[in-house]
Amino acid sequence: MATRNASSSRSSGSGSKNKITAMLKADHKKVKKAFKDFEKLDPQEDPESCQALVSQTLAEIEVHAELEEQLFYPAARGAIKEEDLIDEAEVEHMTAKVLIEQLKGMGPDDEKFAATFKVLGEYLNHHIQEEEGEMFPQLTQSGAEWDTVLEEMMAQREQLMEEKGMPAEGEESEARGAARGASSGSGKRAGSESRPQASGKSSRSSSEKE
Ligand SMILES: [Fe+2]
Ligand SMILES: [Fe+2]
Repeated sequence: MATRNASSSRSSGSGSKNKITAMLKADHKKVKKAFKDFEKLDPQEDPESCQALVSQTLAEIEVHAELEEQLFYPAARGAIKEEDLIDEAEVEHMTAKVLIEQLKGMGPDDEKFAATFKVLGEYLNHHIQEEEGEMFPQLTQSGAEWDTVLEEMMAQREQLMEEKGMPAEGEESEARGAARGASSGSGKRAGSESRPQASGKSSRSSSEKE
């Protein structure tokens, strides 16, 4: 279990709420790009690249979905007027997981491999639109302990990525950089990216910020 350091990362709840939504939006952007990249590949001609892109994207989606389900949605329930939006999002996650499981059992030589991944992308685009367009804007600052939720999401992200053998991302939002700096040293880096270790605040000024 990654350690938490509550005192050093303590910030205002509204800042933490915005950092969380910025982090989730950064994930969304990355996943949407992966689905676009996939369209440029041909499963027959380049099965290895297709498989690599799909496997990595599924792992990223799974980490994101677990963070939302375990930590973000439960917190958001207390901070949103239309709780139905959370119910709908949870159902959409379950439906997406059916496609994800199907894809895990397939390879690029499967007839429906590309079609299944494409449908997953279309489905997630719709889901992302609802999260960013309806759910996130409705979240109130006072309805949840956002500071704690952010810390827990950061710690769990590290842990899940490590479990899945995923390298730390080269591209990270200000939210991730700042929060990771507060609990540094908990996760090992695979070192495939040349970014400097986050040692506090990220020097990037993220455009993901709301
Ligand atoms: Fe999401
Ligand atoms: Fe979601």
